[in-house]
Amino acid sequence: MASLSTLPKPISESSFFLPKLSNSISISRVKIRPLTPSNVFKNSNQTQFSSGSPTFDVPLLSCSEVIERLRTSRGSHKPKQHYLAMYSSVFSGITTDTAAMVIPMDDHMVHRGHGVFDTAAIMDGLIPIAAFHFDRFLRSATMAKIQIPFDRESIRQILIRTVSVSQCRKGSLRYWLSAGPGDFQLSPSGCHQATLYAIVIQDQSPPDHSGIRVVTSSIPIKTPQFSVMKSVNYLPNTLSKMEAEENDAYAAIWLDGDGFVAEGPNMNVAFVTKEKELLMPCFDKILSGCTAKRVLVLAAKSVREGKLRGIRVDNVSVEEGKRANEMMLIGSGVLVRSVVQWDEEIIGNGRESPVTQALLNLLLEDMKSGPPTVRVPVPY
Ligand SMILES: Cc1ncc(COP(=O)(O)O)c(C=O)c1O
Repeated sequence: MASLSTLPKPISESSFFLPKLSNSISISRVKIRPLTPSNVFKNSNQTQFSSGSPTFDVPLLSCSEVIERLRTSRGSHKPKQHYLAMYSSVFSGITTDTAAMVIPMDDHMVHRGHGVFDTAAIMDGLIPIAAFHFDRFLRSATMAKIQIPFDRESIRQILIRTVSVSQCRKGSLRYWLSAGPGDFQLSPSGCHQATLYAIVIQDQSPPDHSGIRVVTSSIPIKTPQFSVMKSVNYLPNTLSKMEAEENDAYAAIWLDGDGFVAEGPNMNVAFVTKEKELLMPCFDKILSGCTAKRVLVLAAKSVREGKLRGIRVDNVSVEEGKRANEMMLIGSGVLVRSVVQWDEEIIGNGRESPVTQALLNLLLEDMKSGPPTVRVPVPY
């Protein structure tokens, strides 16, 4: 084992090639040949690299060199999303420099998935239904046995301040509670403190409310214990989304263990039945969507106006869903979006979705000018 003093120096502090220190410790610039069929050989049960002629440079870098390269690599590709500000309780502050928006590798959220998160929209300088997201966030942290590092009001203040610093008026605020950095063990007992991270993402995409296609997901849904909590374990959700994209669809819909309609990978699902009822799957085996819950409240107006006959939260069979007049996806990203085809079945007449449209309008109105209990103004 080499002591720190015998380790090679970063390139800024060393000549181009340093001498080899020992058989196990190499020089500061290591050259590695890229993996090709010709330089890989297999023995009975292993894949190995042969020692071929070097091609890639792998320099040893100082901290400032790493930061510099992070900045360069960020600048070298055009990101689809812009991150305007990040808070981290590791450095107890906010940065607007994307190169510094990093989290420690030994954070258990990174290597064990021991973290929870939530996302709230930022719209016209307001954070709609912020309190619902915040409550779910803290509930998820408790379910994941993460010791919340600050009191509720301090976290709320940190999140609002991060949005304020970002100057973002349209986008989203995403925040995480993690078991924290400490080590690479499985148990979080070596983590010194749970960490809070938050990031503000600018939304540059024009709103798209056109009807979409969905398919039934072949990726298994998470068990209820894990699907009701918003943990960072989104691999099933990601694979489900990829399955949808592979089939030219927007989302893949999960069925629960009993075959009832559950949810999409990052949205809830609802229907308008032939009897003109708004029908939404029960929330006991899926994520309790903040947007869906708000839509249930707002839909009362559509009942009063005679657009709906009633509102029901119940088990929904696939047959009932597929023969509904309307189907919609609901979530803080998608808002309320009409589904015109599910697998091979056309939903309703495949075009007009008057109730879905009415619910979207109610939600947009509520986000802009709903009661103060459901909106947090950002003090810019
Ligand atoms: C699995 C899942 N279901 C439903 C939703 C919708 O929740 P919300 O309306 O709170 O965004 C989300 C949101 O990300 C989700 O990840």
